[in-house]
Amino acid sequence: MNRRYRKTIIAGNWKMNKNPAETKEFITQLKPHAARAKWCETVLCVPFIDIPAAVKAAKNTRVFIAAQNMHHESSGAYTGEVSGEMLVSLGVKYVVIGHSERRQYFGETEDTVSQKVRAALACGLRPIVCVGESMSQREKNLTLDYVRMQIKTVFWDVDPKDVKKVVVAYEPIWAIGTGKTATAQQADEVGRAIRECIREIYGARHARSVTILYGGSMNPKNAKELLAMPDVDGGLIGGASLQCDDFVQILDAADQ
Ligand code: PGA
Repeated sequence: MNRRYRKTIIAGNWKMNKNPAETKEFITQLKPHAARAKWCETVLCVPFIDIPAAVKAAKNTRVFIAAQNMHHESSGAYTGEVSGEMLVSLGVKYVVIGHSERRQYFGETEDTVSQKVRAALACGLRPIVCVGESMSQREKNLTLDYVRMQIKTVFWDVDPKDVKKVVVAYEPIWAIGTGKTATAQQADEVGRAIRECIREIYGARHARSVTILYGGSMNPKNAKELLAMPDVDGGLIGGASLQCDDFVQILDAADQ
């Protein structure tokens, strides 16, 4: 973390879990702890149907609500989809884009990710964009090249003034939901490469301002070590964000 230049963000990604009543209960439990975490922004990425309950429960707190996906058009004949404008109208502040599960199961590509990033920024949402390599790419020593390619697509055509609104989540695919965490050094090495790539495109000042999260089996035990690294500015937490106690311990680890 480097709080001098950028915000620390601890984001829980609930995936397809919890209903509105459970959402309300979770946030009620979380509230007093989030108020204590002065140094970091707390974000909950909830299923679409939980958004109204989440926004209501988080009103006047330091907890921000995110969606887990959006469509790049603002409206139209796209059955089953939800636009960024619709999310904004509900009080949503962040949106996860290009999670590896969306790439793997729902056919999202670098191209759709890039379109969604620009659409999110255009309607005032902060995108949390996921990048990361598979195990076979890591074994072939392709991690840094692959992630750099992804970062170039993420930022393609993004206006310099919007760069600091983009949150990058480095999530090695082999670490998601597997209990296998990247070491703090691995997470930091890729975080540094991501920042370097942004620096090459936009210059040092912009690159410094971007929050880079680590995601992939982050939990109360390993959070402190990961968050101590200079290019790990927070976490995108799946499994360990479903229990309020675990999530609060990670928040505490970030509030060092
Ligand atoms: P995990 O998920 O913490 O359960 O590995 C992280 C994510 O998918 O964002």
